[in-house]
Amino acid sequence: MAHQHPKGTRDFFPAELAALHHIECAWRTASVNAGFDEIEGPTFEHLDLYTVKSGEGIVSELFSFKRAGGDVDYALRPEFTPTLARMAAAKGRSLSVPTKWFGIPSHFRAERPQRGRLREFKQWNVDLLGIDAPSADAEVIATAIHALAELGLTHNDVVVRISHRSVVTSMLLESGLDASQLDQALALLDKKEKMDDETFLSKVNEAGLPEAAFTQFDGNTEISHPDLDVLQTELSRWGVADWCTFDFGIVRGLAYYTGIVFEIHERSGAERAIAGGGRYDKLIEMFGGPAMPAVGFGMGDVVLSLVLKDKGLLEEGDAYMPTPEVFVVSASDEGDDAIPNIVSSLRAHGIHARQSYKTTRNVGKLLTEAGKTRAKNAIILGAELEEGNVVVKNLESGEQIQVPLASVVEHFS
Ligand code: HAM
Repeated sequence: MAHQHPKGTRDFFPAELAALHHIECAWRTASVNAGFDEIEGPTFEHLDLYTVKSGEGIVSELFSFKRAGGDVDYALRPEFTPTLARMAAAKGRSLSVPTKWFGIPSHFRAERPQRGRLREFKQWNVDLLGIDAPSADAEVIATAIHALAELGLTHNDVVVRISHRSVVTSMLLESGLDASQLDQALALLDKKEKMDDETFLSKVNEAGLPEAAFTQFDGNTEISHPDLDVLQTELSRWGVADWCTFDFGIVRGLAYYTGIVFEIHERSGAERAIAGGGRYDKLIEMFGGPAMPAVGFGMGDVVLSLVLKDKGLLEEGDAYMPTPEVFVVSASDEGDDAIPNIVSSLRAHGIHARQSYKTTRNVGKLLTEAGKTRAKNAIILGAELEEGNVVVKNLESGEQIQVPLASVVEHFS
């Protein structure tokens, strides 16, 4: 019986996993260079961790389950922020200020799979705890931008669209919305760009919300809030103002945000959001921790890969596969006997060495095999072994020299 991977998941064969690692390497480098320390948490949590404050959107997309025979409700993690807030709360007052954490966890959402949306994806999380100032917001945004720049993107390719939860909520409340309807209204506004105006208004009416509360956002880009004025200055100081714009269209569906919110998008509007984040100053306290302001974002691998591919910045095929320093081939019985020792010694010296498993004595064929692995050099064990020598061929230049067998490892060290 042939089995298939579940809908919305991916199998990563070596070349695909190498491409993912290429992205993760840019994420990790940007995090570490900016002083963030890596953390990880469990892949599943108690269900109520998510029902408290993530918002309806995410709760309706949970994979939830019970242990066979058990009655405790669990859920596969759909996002990292609740885990991070729980971990921060557990440290309590021993948490240093600031605490700068990053992680690259897998997440699970029972969404309808489509372009840019899967049921399992990787998401880079960067969170800065303990500093309630726009300089921290700017540092977090700059960290995202440094990773994107490392991957070859420029401010002509992507834009950070920044808004403010308080501005949006006060506009909603002033136009007649009841405070009890806020979470629902924010979740709906977050989806506005994904539907046409007619569908959107019919959803507003269906939910019994006042239409006027929503139409005021159309074309209104004049945001003013003291935090945003300072943030503008900070973004310039961090050298990333060219990448950023203030934009009311950004609401964010998650309920825990309290201050600035932002999303990173491909500039022309292709694909979904590459990343989303914002300030969540109350969540850690809500999970039983100390009062601890926080700001951070999550960047998914799925949309980012699509944007990079669209722009020719993510190569197809084996481009990101590790390449051997040395490929060892044998064209003689003595060579066959010598291979394990040579390969093992090279590896023991930290050198990426592979060998041929073919039985042919045809050196041309063996070198073709070496070429396919994109090895930099070949060691040929042939007739020269009788004088205690091997041939080292530079596969890039074609240049060939004889090296004593006894010093071949040294030659590559
Ligand atoms: P989010 O907006 O739900 O935020 O997700 C952030 C990013 O994760 C999205 O922009 C997208 O690239 C990716 N993503 C989300 N869902 C999917 C999916 N089904 N398939 C593929 N990619 C997806 C959060 O998760 C917040 N916890 C981020 C955060 C961290 N806020 C503060 N700190």
